[in-house]
Amino acid sequence: MKKNNIKNKIEGFSKLTKLQKIAWVNKTYFQDDKSSLKLIEQYWLNDSNLQKVHDEFSENTISNFLLPLGLAPNFLIDGKDYTVPMAIEESSVVAAACKAAKFWRKRGGFKTKIIDFKKTGQVHFIFNGDREKLKKFFNKIKGKLIYDCEKISQNMIKRGGGITDIELLDKTIDMDNYFQLNATFDTVDSMGANFINSCLEQFAKSLNREALLYEPFSKNEKQIQVIMSILSNYVPECLVRAEVSCPVEDLGSELNTKEFACKFEQAIKIAKTQKERAVTHNKGIMNGVDAVAIATGNDFRAIEAGIHAYAARNGKYSSLSDVKIQNGVFNFWVELPISIGTVGGITSLHPLVKWCLKLLQNPTGKELMKIVAVAGLAQNFGALSSLVSSGIQKGHMKMHLINILNALKSSEDEKNKLIDFFKSNVVSYSSVEKELIKLRNNEF
Ligand code: MEV
Repeated sequence: MKKNNIKNKIEGFSKLTKLQKIAWVNKTYFQDDKSSLKLIEQYWLNDSNLQKVHDEFSENTISNFLLPLGLAPNFLIDGKDYTVPMAIEESSVVAAACKAAKFWRKRGGFKTKIIDFKKTGQVHFIFNGDREKLKKFFNKIKGKLIYDCEKISQNMIKRGGGITDIELLDKTIDMDNYFQLNATFDTVDSMGANFINSCLEQFAKSLNREALLYEPFSKNEKQIQVIMSILSNYVPECLVRAEVSCPVEDLGSELNTKEFACKFEQAIKIAKTQKERAVTHNKGIMNGVDAVAIATGNDFRAIEAGIHAYAARNGKYSSLSDVKIQNGVFNFWVELPISIGTVGGITSLHPLVKWCLKLLQNPTGKELMKIVAVAGLAQNFGALSSLVSSGIQKGHMKMHLINILNALKSSEDEKNKLIDFFKSNVVSYSSVEKELIKLRNNEF
């Protein structure tokens, strides 16, 4: 082990106060540099109560990590207007969403549909015995498993959801003596992770207890070994579709509309067959999905994991979106598995999340699924439209220009002059640097 690692080791870090934690990290990694301390403090909120709310979301918090919150107005979704909040640092994403929203607004807007709304979780266990006996045992205790969760489920049931089914799955083909209790849930407006996991852990307890009491089981069979109980972030049955359509001649682009539609269709075909392209294609969709998920306080890691697994559901990673051009009509859609909530989690705790949900007119869970899918589709439309016409860099670098100017520490006046200059010139780090030097030397 390197000496450095030993010196930097600490016991009981979580028990230190926030200031002690900062002092330790500053001494250990920043040579007690005052500016590093100042930076951490700069991101503290003035309102100490509000800061406490944020501190308590996580463990060992020392400051806040900010993301820009942008707005994409003019989204027309199923005939209703939305201004969509997007928390994202990538410079061109919100601009692309705004552009796509405006474009499709003039062509009837986005249409959506919830295809299915089921979430699942599994109790993974080992049963070393007679499968037929296990099946009979399961059928006998199934009602009990649900009954034992009554206390956990009562609020969810009041809201119209709950445990919808439990089945016993024989997985011995994958692993010796391996079975699952596969449970299905309706979590209404919440993502429902805590509810599902609590139910599953109760199922596991009931399973063990009932097995011990089940007379037909041998001594060995009574000893069911639960490996783990956990929800699945793979939610192919919690599926939403978002689509747009218009006559090909209304597509209007830098290219001739037919050429545009044809290249767009080919771009989708490439993403359907080439995983190298599919991953990037889908990443563009996730730019929209994640930005709205974060702004509305949702677990974007769960959404990412579920969506990418879905993209590979047929055994090959492929495009999440699709297009059909038939009888002169361009139809473009995406189907995404999205487990998301508008209640629970941090949705009622994080003031900005609450604000974003209010901006979206306090949507139900299903409505939010639709909005998120639309944000993904809009983003994909924006990316493909640029890719098959002007290329992505033109718009991207225009948006990135401000980052380059900031990195070069340009003044407001310099920024204004150079933003104007680069309206008609190609942006790159070196070209911006060169023009800035010229400007500073009065050679501009
Ligand atoms: C960049 O964040 C996203 C894109 O690469 C998506 C795509 O290529 O479709 C532009």
